[in-house]
Order: sequence, then structure tokens, then C-alpha cells
Amino acid sequence: MQDSGRAALVTGASRGIGYGIAEALVARGDRVCITGRNEDALKEAVERLGADRVIGVAGKAHDPEHQAAAVARTVEAFGRVDHLVNNAGTNPVFGPMAELDLAVARKVYETNVLSALGFAQHTWRAWQQENGGAIVNIASVAGVSASPFIGAYGMSKAAMINLTQQLAHEFAPKVRVNAIAPAVVKTRFAEALYEGREEEAAAAYPLGRLGVPEDIGGAAAFLTSESAGWVTGQTLVVDGGIFLNAGVG
Ligand SMILES: NC(=O)c1ccc[n+]([C@@H]2O[C@H](COP(=O)([O-])OP(=O)(O)OC[C@H]3O[C@@H](n4cnc5c(N)ncnc54)[C@H](OP(=O)(O)O)[C@@H]3O)[C@@H](O)[C@H]2O)c1
Repeated sequence: MQDSGRAALVTGASRGIGYGIAEALVARGDRVCITGRNEDALKEAVERLGADRVIGVAGKAHDPEHQAAAVARTVEAFGRVDHLVNNAGTNPVFGPMAELDLAVARKVYETNVLSALGFAQHTWRAWQQENGGAIVNIASVAGVSASPFIGAYGMSKAAMINLTQQLAHEFAPKVRVNAIAPAVVKTRFAEALYEGREEEAAAAYPLGRLGVPEDIGGAAAFLTSESAGWVTGQTLVVDGGIFLNAGVG
């Protein structure tokens, strides 16, 4: 196994997109700390990824104590934290904005946006301010254009895109900060959008299929690599071409 000499922290990575990202970073030789709420699932993921290179820290992404502990544990285990991938996110509500429960909207904002900022503050202070690195925020196509019935989620992902630009400006030149905006990727989170009708759902995509976690893993590996050394503040839309359908005719 090659060794990049780098270490990364990926939030919400016991399954789905976060796991796909952790897998891509481990494959190129990074050491990786993954997080998630369920300890057993996290342990299993660490075993599958390789306990010689991967550790897990259980907790809720929005909890400031968990954020501090995960960053501290990464530095303690690997001596550094070059890359942060803010992937943990939630979408607990479907329905029109006119009926949105504002308490739920606050919760979505806290989990999807403030968690990412909290983790970024901790990695900045612990390592990146002095030594540099990269941050990748997992946004969504719902943050780039309006999507019916997931308005609270879209609003939070749009804020995440602005947070990406803001941090890119403030953390330059040491740290590059970018976002990825995926369309539908086959995970537990998105299952309701394609279950029982995957072929029909996939037909809307010019590339003819839904996304898989590896698609986002590849994009995150690029954005945290030297190949992306002059890329910051950007949102990479990884969507199987579905945005190409927006034209007239
Ligand atoms: N799948 C899609 O189509 C899609 C498209 C665009 C963007 N995204 C974004 O991609 C990210 C990952 O989604 P996914 O589809 O991979 O979801 P997933 O398959 O449900 O996986 C979510 C992962 O995050 C952990 N997690 C969930 N809530 C957490 C919290 N509050 N604190 C800490 N860990 C948490 C889960 O473990 P525990 O349950 O044990 O905590 C799990 O490891 C999200 O930010 C989502 O908005 C997904």
C-alpha cells in the first residue's frame, strides 16, 4: 500500500458517500479518521477500510465537543490533519416551504452548515493555519438550483456553497476550500428517490445511470490533491449530466 504521508478527516463516513470518499483517500495512501453517530457501524467501516490506516470517532456532527474530539484524535493518531471533508448531512423534511416548520429548518441549518464551519474552525486551528491543506464540503445540486419539496435542505446546501467561497477567501493561500454538488447518488439517504424505479430515474441522466459513492470519492480525491493546486472556492457539480437538461427545446 502506498503512503501519501497525509491525513484526512471525513465526517459521516460509516456508509454512503462519506465511505466512498474515505475509500478513495485510503487507496491513494492517506490515513483517515471517519465519523458517524452509530458506534457499531463506525467500527465495522474502520475494519473494512483497514484499521491500520483508519480510525473512527463517534458523535453527532453538530456537537462542538465531538468536532473538537474528532480533530484532536486525528492529530493524536496521525500527527496531522491535512484534509477535511464535511460530508455528514441531513434532510428530515419533505414538503412546501409555505408549511416548513422553522424549528426543523434551524436543525437542518445546524447539522448541514454550522457543523461544517465548526469542523473547519477546528482543523484550521489544529493544523491547517500553520501547515496548509484542503477542505471539501459535500453540498448538493439542490443547493445550486431549486428542487421541489426539499427547500429547507436546498437552502442549507446553498449556504454551504457560500460558506465554501467565504472560507476559500479567508483561508487562502494556505488552504484550498471547494464543494461538490452531487445529483442522486445510490445511498440509504437517497433511496426513496429511486427505489423500485431506478431505470426510470436513471433515464433522465445523459450518462444513463444514477451516481455511486465512488463517483464522489474520485471528485473528492481530486480536490484534495496537488492536481487541484490552483482550484479554490469552486463547486464541482457531479451529476451524470442532469443539469444539461435545463436548456430549452
Ligand atoms: N445520496 C445523494 O443522492 C446525495 C446527493 C447530494 C448530496 N448528498 C449529501 O451527501 C452527504 C452524505 O449522504 P449519503 O447519501 O452518503 O447518506 P447516507 O448513506 O445516509 O450516509 C450518511 C453517513 O453520515 C452519518 N451521519 C448522518 N447524520 C450524521 C450526523 N448528524 N452526525 C454525524 N454523522 C452522521 C451516517 O452514519 P450514522 O447514521 O451512524 O450517523 C452515515 O455514515 C450528505 O451531506 C448529503 O446531503 C447526498
